[in-house]
Amino acid sequence: MKIYNQKTVISPDIQVLKSQQHTIGLVPTMGALHHGHLALVKKALHDNNYVVVSIFVNPTQFDNTNDLSKYPRTLNNDVELLKTLNENNRILVYAPSVDDIYEGDIISQDYKFGGIEFEMEGRFRKGHFDGVGTIVKRLFDILKPDKAYFGKKDFQQLQIVKALVRNYDMPVNIVGCEIHRESDGLAMSSRNARLTEEYRQAAPFIYKTLKTAKAKFGTESANKITEWVENQFAKHDLLKLEYFIIADIETLKPVKRKSNKKSYRAFIAVYADDIRLIDNIALN
Ligand code: PAJ
Repeated sequence: MKIYNQKTVISPDIQVLKSQQHTIGLVPTMGALHHGHLALVKKALHDNNYVVVSIFVNPTQFDNTNDLSKYPRTLNNDVELLKTLNENNRILVYAPSVDDIYEGDIISQDYKFGGIEFEMEGRFRKGHFDGVGTIVKRLFDILKPDKAYFGKKDFQQLQIVKALVRNYDMPVNIVGCEIHRESDGLAMSSRNARLTEEYRQAAPFIYKTLKTAKAKFGTESANKITEWVENQFAKHDLLKLEYFIIADIETLKPVKRKSNKKSYRAFIAVYADDIRLIDNIALN
């Protein structure tokens, strides 16, 4: 499996593949790969001739320097995991340095995504989606994929990337993939590796609460459900709720009055000590 660190080296190799009419799938990641990431890679391998997995902890999307410095970096292990999927040698890894991407200027572009960038993660992580937009656009420019794969674990990010390709007329198909969970329901995340045993035991409470919220959605108002969730976390010794919001999946604005023509999801962000965990669930 070929591992590239420089855009000037991977870019021409991809051009050659494309000139031979091969399709390219891209799975952008920040590494510390788990089975949620691998499911995206498997889907991309199924749909495309070649798959680029990018591994890059993107500094501009972190609003918290502690979160950035503690973000797990496990490149050797990531490469070993990808090798297990690399039959017929169809995976290329792009693991650039910060310099290769930002050329000494570690800043984000300003993006407008029609308002969805101000909700939830955009409200609680200032500048986060400008950083995501910046890196994803750069990866698309360098790697020119036909399709790119994103998980619904970061549902708002998926909607942001769809808006990015619409606004910039980029010829990339965005494919959304289902959330992968541990057997106890905890959504897989690179940050889970940082949880102590005590917090790891507590964390499935997040998905358990989302499932109960979903069950209540048929008969109770969004306000009432939100109040109930806030109470559950107020009583919890370890987990601190940052937000719980029931939102329209298109506008990502909190629902006021339910309409059966619209689709809704419940979104949650929780602190387990200093580790921030997010999750979401489809409600209808
Ligand atoms: P990262 O958190 O590494 O996630 C990479 C991709 O894997 C994202 O599309 C994310 O939604 C997906 N993913 C993570 N956990 C998942 C799970 N449990 N089930 C399904 N998909 C899951 O998201 C990022 O990196 C970055 O913001 C990035 C897009 C790479 C830009 O820097």
